[in-house]
Amino acid sequence: MINKMGLENDIQYVLISEERIKARVRELGEQISRDYAGKNPLLVCILRGACVFFTDLARNITDYMEMDFMAVSSYNDGMTSHGIVRIKKDLDTSIEGRHVIIVEDIMDSGNTLDNLTRLLGTRNPASMRIACLLDKPERRAEGIGISPDYCGFTVPNEFVVGYGLDYADAYRNLPYIGVLKPEVYTNVE
Ligand code: PRP
Repeated sequence: MINKMGLENDIQYVLISEERIKARVRELGEQISRDYAGKNPLLVCILRGACVFFTDLARNITDYMEMDFMAVSSYNDGMTSHGIVRIKKDLDTSIEGRHVIIVEDIMDSGNTLDNLTRLLGTRNPASMRIACLLDKPERRAEGIGISPDYCGFTVPNEFVVGYGLDYADAYRNLPYIGVLKPEVYTNVE
């Protein structure tokens, strides 16, 4: 059981307001619209954390684009220098020859995106870039050589939730990025 005190009460402070997110997502949408004009990019939503950012970003893209969805979990098997990505739900679309934009909520250690780009790269896309709402570079694992091509905000090493990001599957519906009160996730029974 987690020590919930009420959705808003569990938040220590708002790190990125709804207004700032909205403005930044609009800028990213405009940038992607310019960069991919006439290319009909395939936006790949990595479930579940990216779902809120994904739908807002897509609505700020003003040219043709397509959507697909993928769910993965990443772990390190201790056998290789990088980890392994397990596909829980694969894409329905072939990405061969397509311009792919992977949409994520957060890059933390970077293992998920590192493994995922490695995997999707074997499927011969025409190009592949990463759009990530939050980047937490302080947490990056050793040897990760990638970073988001489109980044919403760089964040400090705090326990962030909201706008798709969860703790124990809660808080994804908050319209802002907040820092969780430590008492919510410490002394968990
Ligand atoms: C989160 C997030 C990224 C990953 C980032 O997913 O959505 O996919 O962790 O961490 P990393 O850079 O250290 O690999 P999570 O496994 O919590 O699943 P969720 O998206 O369903 O919340």
